[in-house]
Amino acid sequence: MKKDPGYFKKNFANFLAQLDEESYEMHYAKKSQLFAEVEGKVLEIGPGTGVNFPFLTGKEVTWTGLEPNAAMHPFLFKAAQENGLEARLLDCTTEAICLPDDEVDYVISSEVLCSVSDLEKSLAEIRRVLKPNGKFLFLEHVVDKHNIWRRLVQKAVPYTPWKFYSDGCHPARDIGNAIRQAGFSDVSYVDYMQEGRGIILMINRPHIYGWAIK
Ligand SMILES: C[S@@+](CC[C@H](N)C(=O)[O-])C[C@H]1O[C@@H](n2cnc3c(N)ncnc32)[C@H](O)[C@@H]1O
Repeated sequence: MKKDPGYFKKNFANFLAQLDEESYEMHYAKKSQLFAEVEGKVLEIGPGTGVNFPFLTGKEVTWTGLEPNAAMHPFLFKAAQENGLEARLLDCTTEAICLPDDEVDYVISSEVLCSVSDLEKSLAEIRRVLKPNGKFLFLEHVVDKHNIWRRLVQKAVPYTPWKFYSDGCHPARDIGNAIRQAGFSDVSYVDYMQEGRGIILMINRPHIYGWAIK
């Protein structure tokens, strides 16, 4: 039997579930473009409540996910069913993906790489499980290199109760640069300042979205 995920993990799952619709609308334009090409074997890291399923509906995909927070699972399976997808979860994390080398056509992620415990290891694992020429498609919030005030807050919040309420999110990561350094043959992404209101978005922006080819 799975162990109880605990108060903060449950709280985070319920919180994300409440934001599903807002997140869908906020990222609709970028995600529709980003995930348009997805087909074949797809591994999604950190799918959360399944907020990316609507972008995969009707596609020829075999979806597998890595979602260590068990409190997300009921939301995720419900969303998969509503979007006509069959969801299979693996019992491992991005730092040590329990799949053989060269296994999947796509790895996809949205707003996950801020939370992994080891970014470099996670990117190496993503690259390892992709087939040759396979693609990693990502949409992530990243460190603000221009606004020093936001960057200071981004660096400080992981040392506050944010750590517990946001499930270990580190907003000051230079994720774009880390992807460029991770040994992919080609990387391309767009930086943008996500519009919207609210304290979380004030901290968790700008964003990048794009792809990395193995
Ligand atoms: C901010 S949420 C994003 C969820 C969803 N992708 C979205 O866009 O709403 C981050 C997710 O990554 C998951 N996560 C955290 N660490 C992880 C790891 N090492 N491997 C895989 N997933 C992880 C969390 O459980 C959570 O569901």
